[in-house]
Amino acid sequence: MLEIIGLQVNHGWVRALRDLSLHIHKGEMVAVIGANGAGKSTLLGALAGLYKPAGGRILLNGRSVTGKPAEYMVRQGISLVPERREIFNSLTVLDNLLLGAYHHYRALKDAVREDVKRVLELFPALRGRERDPAGTLSGGLQQMLAIGRGLMARPSLLLLDEPSSGLAPLVVREIMAALADLKQTGMTIVLVEQNTAAALKVTDRALVMERGRIVLSGCSDEMISNARVQQAYLGRVRAARPAAVL
Ligand SMILES: Nc1ncnc2c1ncn2[C@@H]1O[C@H](COP(=O)(O)OP(=O)(O)OP(=O)(O)O)[C@@H](O)[C@H]1O
Ligand SMILES: [Mg+2]
Repeated sequence: MLEIIGLQVNHGWVRALRDLSLHIHKGEMVAVIGANGAGKSTLLGALAGLYKPAGGRILLNGRSVTGKPAEYMVRQGISLVPERREIFNSLTVLDNLLLGAYHHYRALKDAVREDVKRVLELFPALRGRERDPAGTLSGGLQQMLAIGRGLMARPSLLLLDEPSSGLAPLVVREIMAALADLKQTGMTIVLVEQNTAAALKVTDRALVMERGRIVLSGCSDEMISNARVQQAYLGRVRAARPAAVL
């Protein structure tokens, strides 16, 4: 569904993505992990049309979408839930959701109402809060709202930038469970996470980025037991060999 070939993105003098290639199949849920500054957000931003590539190609369902603006990418079914959530605090929860549907609001008014219902089914904790200003929600609810707003665009490819950031473990579990539900609907999902353990549990495949490149990739199950992933991203030290019995 998504193919990236030799993608290069620069932020001024910083080469944030260097000759990055990857292929994501329809219905797959892929984790992208890596240290701070590895280029994870830049990758999502390039896919969402926020950054113009300096080189390489992005193909969506076989058609080039390289260098197209964000508005075009949304219409092609790519929706980004950014790291800083970008909720409008003074607007109500409902209005924040409706903003996510702005590009098809007129044409699909009834469908939009259905979509709001579906978001509230996915995140029952938001129910009853529709008329509250979004700024009064807890961090966890704001993250759910941000994902809900991303879903209102009716994406076929959902990009999430660190949805677990700053949230309590219980809320993280709730959000990961909702993402697993979304995957069941056939949605293709790219999940950037610093919470490697949570991301590997819920995804099919994982990519490790370092300095703008993918340096390792494999099934999430296998990555959990990969020594390099364990040491660098799961905070585990390899167990010492048991002392020989004398
Ligand atoms: N707007 C910008 N202007 C200049 N440099 C930037 C900009 N955004 C990112 N960079 C640089 O590009 C590189 C990749 O950054 P990016 O934000 O994509 O990494 P990341 O993997 O998402 O990191 P984090 O885990 O901290 O979110 C870093 O060296 C960063 O400093
Ligand atoms: Mg980032």
